[in-house]
Amino acid sequence: MIGRLNHVAVAVRDIAKATAIYRDTLGAEVAGQVAQPAHGVTTVFITLPNTKIELLEPLGENSPIAKFLERNPDGGIHHVCYEVPDIRAARDALKAQGARVLGDGEPKIGAHGKPVLFLHPKDFCGTLVELEQA
Ligand code: CO
Repeated sequence: MIGRLNHVAVAVRDIAKATAIYRDTLGAEVAGQVAQPAHGVTTVFITLPNTKIELLEPLGENSPIAKFLERNPDGGIHHVCYEVPDIRAARDALKAQGARVLGDGEPKIGAHGKPVLFLHPKDFCGTLVELEQA
């Protein structure tokens, strides 16, 4: 069902500092900051030869990553994103196997402008999983 690893998301308190670490220390190709008020985050995408890293900094009052950063004050891996060819077919197949889809279960337009869904970490080895329609 799942295909390529689209990205690994890393939640951080200071996205400028995190971007500098990836750009200057690790020598990676980093993009500019993008505010995503609908998702409660500011993002920076880092392009690696085989996948991407998505840096996430909280934006606004009710950021979905605020609690994560309370528990992980140094930041940390927040989710992994796998590509699927048909997100509704993937959702239905996973639900039929008992997996829980977060929110109302309907795909939302994610940071890349493509439909995404999140799966409950308790059903996937303690890892928050994002599915993105490729
Ligand atoms: Co993501």
